Amino acid sequence: MNLQSPLIIVNFKTYLESTGARALELAKQAEKAAKETGVCIVVAPQFCDITKIAQTVEIPVFAQHLDAIYPGNSTGHILAETLKEAGATGTLINHSERQLRLSDIETTLTICQKQNLTSCVCANNPQVSAAIAALNPDITSMEPPELIGTGNSVSKAQPNIITDTARLVHQINPAMPLLCGAGISTAQDVFLALKLGTQGILVASGVVKAKDPYCVLEAFANAVNQTKSA
Ligand code: G3P
Repeated sequence: MNLQSPLIIVNFKTYLESTGARALELAKQAEKAAKETGVCIVVAPQFCDITKIAQTVEIPVFAQHLDAIYPGNSTGHILAETLKEAGATGTLINHSERQLRLSDIETTLTICQKQNLTSCVCANNPQVSAAIAALNPDITSMEPPELIGTGNSVSKAQPNIITDTARLVHQINPAMPLLCGAGISTAQDVFLALKLGTQGILVASGVVKAKDPYCVLEAFANAVNQTKSA
């Protein structure tokens, strides 16, 4: 995996603020924050926005989902080859808003390996994160679904599940970057998430719906840098 951790992944979801022309603008702001702080920031826009964004910015672009399918007769599905050609270098898998069966997660990981796509598999709690870690994705992200989109961060509301996840996941897969997400909206949330044992964050509304997403991302990235010296 040629990503540098700690890292920040910004999931654009399907917010209007991160759709079409606004998605491109947001990706440019993420690129600016990444260049100015030296922190790795990845953007995960909607499928139709990937090509334009990947042609414009130099930061990594991930898809939000990949289907466990091969070229052929899978109408309406997302094919790894298409993601690659569009310019994506990785993908989220099993986000809590786009869950997959365990067998399909395993197939998507095989496909990612073959296609050289970075895989970031999401899980909803420490135990599921441990099961995912055993499948050896490039990155795992733990997000308690009940905190997603609330502005009440996992790092403040449920610090114990971050430390539990880090312990379980790194027992199984010591080198794998672990991210956490849900409700992250301040630099302090980011700082705490890293201090609790993660190697980065997965964030959406705190950035996408901010008045000034660049300022928020810059503050998040500065918090990442602070943990290196703290
Ligand atoms: O994928 C990121 C996510 O589900 C967290 O969303 O809006 O709580 O940052 P949010």
